[in-house]
Amino acid sequence: MRFSNVLLAAGFFNATFAQHNATSSVAFRSALRTCSLLQKSLGSEIVQTSGTEYQASASGAWSLFNAEDLPPCIVFPRSTQHVQVAMAAIFRDKIRYAVQAGGHSAMTGWNSVQDGILIFFSHMQNVTYDPTSDTITLQPGIHWGDALSQLSPLGVAPLGGRLGDIGTGLLLGGGLSYLSGEFGFSSNAFVELDVVLVTGKLVTATATNQYSDLFRALKGGANRFGIVTRYQVKAIHIGTEDDKNFFGGVILYPNSSAEALINATAKYVSTVNDTKASILMAFTNSVNGSEINSSHILTLFYHGSSLPNIFGDFLSIPSSFSQIGPVSYMDANSILGAGGDRGFGQLFGASAFKGGVVEQYANAFRAWTDYTNTIESALFATVLAFTPIIDAQTLAGRANGGNLMDPPRGNYAAVQIQTQMLAGVATVPTFVTTARNKLFSRIPRSAGFPLYINECDAGQNVFATYGKFNELKTTYAKYDPTRFNIRFSDGPIGL
Ligand SMILES: Cc1cc2nc3c(=O)[nH]c(=O)nc-3n(C[C@H](O)[C@H](O)[C@H](O)COP(=O)(O)OP(=O)(O)OC[C@H]3O[C@@H](n4cnc5c(N)ncnc54)[C@H](O)[C@@H]3O)c2cc1C
Ligand SMILES: *[C@@H]1O[C@H](CO)[C@@H](O)[C@H](O)[C@H]1NC(C)=O
Ligand SMILES: *[C@@H]1O[C@H](CO)[C@@H](O)[C@H](O)[C@H]1NC(C)=O
Ligand SMILES: *[C@@H]1O[C@H](CO)[C@@H](O)[C@H](O)[C@H]1NC(C)=O
Ligand SMILES: *[C@@H]1O[C@H](CO)[C@@H](O)[C@H](O)[C@H]1NC(C)=O
Ligand SMILES: *[C@@H]1O[C@H](CO)[C@@H](O)[C@H](O)[C@H]1NC(C)=O
Ligand SMILES: *[C@@H]1O[C@H](CO)[C@@H](O)[C@H](O)[C@H]1NC(C)=O
Ligand SMILES: *[C@@H]1O[C@H](CO)[C@@H](O)[C@H](O)[C@H]1NC(C)=O
Repeated sequence: MRFSNVLLAAGFFNATFAQHNATSSVAFRSALRTCSLLQKSLGSEIVQTSGTEYQASASGAWSLFNAEDLPPCIVFPRSTQHVQVAMAAIFRDKIRYAVQAGGHSAMTGWNSVQDGILIFFSHMQNVTYDPTSDTITLQPGIHWGDALSQLSPLGVAPLGGRLGDIGTGLLLGGGLSYLSGEFGFSSNAFVELDVVLVTGKLVTATATNQYSDLFRALKGGANRFGIVTRYQVKAIHIGTEDDKNFFGGVILYPNSSAEALINATAKYVSTVNDTKASILMAFTNSVNGSEINSSHILTLFYHGSSLPNIFGDFLSIPSSFSQIGPVSYMDANSILGAGGDRGFGQLFGASAFKGGVVEQYANAFRAWTDYTNTIESALFATVLAFTPIIDAQTLAGRANGGNLMDPPRGNYAAVQIQTQMLAGVATVPTFVTTARNKLFSRIPRSAGFPLYINECDAGQNVFATYGKFNELKTTYAKYDPTRFNIRFSDGPIGL
């Protein structure tokens, strides 16, 4: 393990950052020099060092841990060329940098930077549909809710996520949607990507051109392989807002149903391979004063006009609230709200469970309950969420050129632990870090199944769990031979 990861895991960096006097740091001052040069070439609207927009953007990230940095400048590109100019200067001057699209990373430092340059995509939010090629073109700053509402009148949608406020960074980590069973990970719908490499060079990658290796690596390689400035993706014909082509909704359960829900989840992951079906099972513990309130939320949808028997177990478990009926794809994507709440420090953590072993799921529930109890005093809430990834999803991805996560055949579940700290708590206390490490050691992944990078802890070596890890490493070495991104940007470890 690298030194910096040990420090990160110990919560050391957050503590130092809090005391860091930005204006006096050498790194900050050299970044400021690059900012001044960039401001001369791009102008002071695109390169900002202060002001209302600068402040709102610096503090706009979803996780409070990423909303505290005050970089010497923020670059607000209007075009790919602006990103090229900024990246070329960052590379030339060896400046730390970060990129922010929808802002929803829960990994500290992955979308923010204190002593470097932040590239912020709020001015590149176009989305268009081209009926001739039946593709959608997304600029990186758009959020899924806006993309869906703009395209809904045309009856098409991109593969994205499940909550409206989330952004396109999701695609670079893979992407799980309510349509994953039919079409695979969201990134499997990539057609053509404009990518600004670390040097500032622009390349356009497709499945078949000379950059096909880069194209594959971007389906799960997260922020390590370059900055994507244009995503052209296949359009999915899901109907308009008036077409209620899906059937489903949400069911809320009391904690007394927890064991039955765990059993039903394990059974679902083992047995269901229906491309039209999708669930998200989220167990939640929220802290209210000195009390923990456990209540559990199932989101379920079927791309059809009724619910088939496969959901029967969940429907028969005693619930406290249920809202199920015909819905549009847009309705489905707003059923859990937009997910836009700010002001809380957030942490994720991932595992991957194959179908079949009920005890593995029950054990995870116990480990998560113990974890919540141990860190209760620092908490607003924790979530233990299961997203089944069915065999058909893996096959759909492979049929479409595959990706480097390359899960083996057979159903499994992406397991996510979300930790939402008490409002305003800006650092991770050491006892929380200790409890997290213990939790992760209690819920190891099933051998061979990849972790989902969009849901991981920054200390988890996700890339090493990919089926095609070696190809990922080779491709990284080819496109960033001086390892500039790894040296100058926070992101997934292990390359
Ligand atoms: C409330 C909530 C709900 C979620 N629901 C889902 C879900 O249903 N399905 C799912 O798959 N995931 C989901 N996620 C996880 C989500 O995929 C990740 O948080 C993802 O990183 C968010 O992308 P973003 O653009 O919003 O975030 P950002 O933090 O802006 O970006 C994420 C990462 O990608 C990098 N990045 C962003 N854009 C670019 C670019 N153009 N070029 C290079 N690097 C870039 C950033 O630097 C950062 O490291 C959810 C997360 C949250 C918080
Ligand atoms: C940070 O350092 C600068 C230069 O040394 C100094 O002028 C400033 O007062 C310091 N700020 C804080 C908040 O300590
Ligand atoms: C984005 O949309 C705006 C407004 O419609 C338009 O002026 C601009 O040219 C578009 N940019 C791209 C890259 O399509
Ligand atoms: C859950 O499954 C376990 C193991 O199969 C079984 O012992 C238990 O009775 C089940 N509980 C419920 C509520 O279904
Ligand atoms: C918190 O607990 C109090 C007292 O038990 C209750 O009245 C209130 O509704 C709870 N709040 C939430 C958000 O659950
Ligand atoms: C919820 O139920 C589980 C057992 O199924 C139990 O361990 C846990 O303490 C319960 N949570 C609360 C807040 O009572
Ligand atoms: C527990 O949470 C549920 C769902 O949010 C809420 O309806 C209920 O009031 C809460 N109960 C307590 C005691 O806080
Ligand atoms: C899952 O369904 C796909 C077809 O959608 C099929 O090709 C595959 O063999 C099925 N997998 C299993 C394990 O049944």
